[in-house]
Amino acid sequence: LSGEYFRYKGILFPVGIYSPESISMVENAEVHDDDIFIVTYPKSGTNWMIEILSLILKDGDPSWIHSVPIWKRSPCPRLMSSHLPIQLFAKAFFNSKAKVIYMGRNPRDVAVSLYHYSKIARQLKDPGTPDQFLENFLKGEVQFGSWFDHIKGWIRMKGKENFLFITYEEMQQDLRSSVQRICQFLSRPLGEEALESVVAHSAFKAMKANPMSNFSLLPHSLLDQRHGAFLRKGVCGDWKNHFTLAQSEAFDRAYREQMRGLPTFPWD
Ligand code: PPS
Repeated sequence: LSGEYFRYKGILFPVGIYSPESISMVENAEVHDDDIFIVTYPKSGTNWMIEILSLILKDGDPSWIHSVPIWKRSPCPRLMSSHLPIQLFAKAFFNSKAKVIYMGRNPRDVAVSLYHYSKIARQLKDPGTPDQFLENFLKGEVQFGSWFDHIKGWIRMKGKENFLFITYEEMQQDLRSSVQRICQFLSRPLGEEALESVVAHSAFKAMKANPMSNFSLLPHSLLDQRHGAFLRKGVCGDWKNHFTLAQSEAFDRAYREQMRGLPTFPWD
């Protein structure tokens, strides 16, 4: 892995993991009505949602999450995850009954998470100084492009029957109710015991202790967890421990400008 990026229709992607062909394959992929997609901007809780859905699809039974690495559980025939902005997503989805769960997260925490991840993920460029990194993040000069464009693109789907918008913050605040909301959206009601099992096994600590979900099976040449962890902190508001006042103000200015006219989010 080179830490080099290529551009596809204006958006940056890491070389080696993605290629123009692989993205165009997704754009033109067949979509089945029973497909479930998790869509996120990177570092918004994708793997947390994969763990939850892996458990829901097995009625709370943890055998699958304890025997198959998380990156092999999605994609699987019915469960897929994607960081693609809406304009590059499978076109067939928009005429299907397939379901998308879009998970949003405070972009300040996304930026902090991505900054740390960029230091250990070999496919990503070194983030540089926090100032340089934040400047690139706010300009969308990072993998998968601008956080603002990503959420503004996907939020247009809100209100559609096959689209669920949920946030990392809501899940942190009340995981149990969030799992119930996801079950309702998927028309997969769970009994009390199964629900408890999903909540217990998808907790940050449980995922960090699960070798199938904590990325410890990946070699250092892909993910160097000697100097950090994929499951790093798993909290809301860690940005407050990292942003300077000037960075926080610059972020607020960019946020206000980009998100003008949009409904409020739990992080506002
Ligand atoms: S990636 O690389 O884009 O697929 O990363 P992604 O999975 O979207 O996001 C990683 C962040 O999610 C946190 N995480 C969790 N938080 C709370 N509970 C659980 N169970 C959980 N699992 C993953 C993970 O720690 C990363 O956030 P940070 O802030 O870096 O800790």
